[in-house]
Amino acid sequence: MSRMKDRYTMPIPDDFHAHLRQSEGLIAYAKGHAGQFGRVLLMPNTLPPISDVHRLEAYRAEVERALEALPDYARFEPLFTFKILPGMKSADIEALARAGAVAGKYYPSGATTNAADGPRSFDEVEEALSTMEALGLVLCIHGEDPEAPVLERERAFLPSVEKLLARHPRLRTVLEHLSDAQSVRFVEHGPENLAATITAHHLLFTIDDMIGESMNPHLYCKPVLKFAADREALRAAVLSGSKKFFFGSDSAPHPREKKECDASASGVYASPSALPALVSLFDALEGLDSLIPFMTEHGAAFYGLPPNTRTLTLARNSWEVPKLLGGAVPMCAGQWLEWRVVQNEGTFMP
Ligand code: NCD
Ligand code: ZN
Repeated sequence: MSRMKDRYTMPIPDDFHAHLRQSEGLIAYAKGHAGQFGRVLLMPNTLPPISDVHRLEAYRAEVERALEALPDYARFEPLFTFKILPGMKSADIEALARAGAVAGKYYPSGATTNAADGPRSFDEVEEALSTMEALGLVLCIHGEDPEAPVLERERAFLPSVEKLLARHPRLRTVLEHLSDAQSVRFVEHGPENLAATITAHHLLFTIDDMIGESMNPHLYCKPVLKFAADREALRAAVLSGSKKFFFGSDSAPHPREKKECDASASGVYASPSALPALVSLFDALEGLDSLIPFMTEHGAAFYGLPPNTRTLTLARNSWEVPKLLGGAVPMCAGQWLEWRVVQNEGTFMP
């Protein structure tokens, strides 16, 4: 991007993993994505969870109302998912597919925010998985074994994914928010139907940024940030240009008081700053040629969606990330970022 002087236009990126929550906050959190993403895959771990058609429709109506509150150029296309729960039948999955869900999300019981109701193994939801495979729905996996020590949870979960892939060779499967060098290798060497999302925070930070000097709860997320070697493996995966890796912000806002307390909720509110921060990072790594397909092409291709036709412009026009947005503290709060998302209509970001 240094080559591009002060302005750069690119296809608008997609975000294949985000949390907009329900009710309070939804409009504010939708603004975090506004103007920056073409399509946003919305995760179903809301309260109550998106696990049947009725809840999917109610949530869709809420999201659509939030989008209507945004100016035209700032609207994104929401893509909907459902939570895979024990006891789900083929007919439930078929109905969710007819209602427009593109993916089902597997959260191991207790693995993360609002996941206590999740299955304890893939066996528990075999009927749902077989139906998803038959219908061509995507399976998104929160790949952590909650019984393992926190830094080893992702790698400890890989053997069960291996078994799942052997049993469901046509099920398009996404390991979400990769954090560990071992899982990067697992995806690289895995079958064609296996892909992974990578977040901005796992590309930018390590555990030392979270707890090395002082404790920053705003970088606390699941899976927790790992070591420099893991971050290197994630960066190399993006720089390799492999189509198996694409962007999912895992933007997961929690009100500030739920982060700055004695039982901090996990989740990084990444969407307001993820794109400008990644552009600076990959510019410094001389890897912008790989960042663009990672953010704009590979995800759509994996999900079988057409390429985005809209574009987005970034300007070299530094800005301070607000310390609070919609009651949540965004990633890089209070820091100055070099690149800023702008639109023809004017500067969009705060
Ligand atoms: C997410 C959330 O807050 O909903 N939290 C997180 O730490 N990433 C859930 C998730 O994706 O794990
Ligand atoms: Zn998430």
